[in-house]
Amino acid sequence: MKLLFVCLGNICRSPAAENIMNHLVAQAGMSDRIECDSAGTASYHTGNPPDRRMRAAAANRDLPMVGKARQFTKADFTAFDLILAMDRENYHNILALDPQGQYRDKVKLMCDFATQHPDKEVPDPYYGGAEGFDYVIDLLVDACSGLLQELETTTAKKV
Ligand code: 4NP
Repeated sequence: MKLLFVCLGNICRSPAAENIMNHLVAQAGMSDRIECDSAGTASYHTGNPPDRRMRAAAANRDLPMVGKARQFTKADFTAFDLILAMDRENYHNILALDPQGQYRDKVKLMCDFATQHPDKEVPDPYYGGAEGFDYVIDLLVDACSGLLQELETTTAKKV
């Protein structure tokens, strides 16, 4: 199962989601079954590591935060099983690259998997203060846990 997390710049929210999911997947002993990557709908930050403020917020919780930004491309529709958009704008920008709607069912909103937060979107922390980064991590730990639980159930059903 290959998962792709997508935001705008691929330096704050989606690399955080990728690293948090990898961490939870490793803890669950499922690293051989679930693979994660991330991308941005925009190309401004291509090649850059995750934002320094996101790395600092993650380090406070002993979470790894590695990666190199890249832009989402049409090829990702076939390369991944599930594409998780951080907000509605990301969601629409992704689907705009699939005008025939062939891959529509693979694209989901990340917050649909959160069980402890009412948010419908992962807020963009880029122009705000440090607390925004902490909140994004809280929300993503929740949503990634929900996603993992769902994947555990669907994988179990297939066996
Ligand atoms: P991200 O955050 O989409 O969570 O990576 C942003 C990063 C950069 C910009 C906006 C949001 N930017 O405008 O450069």
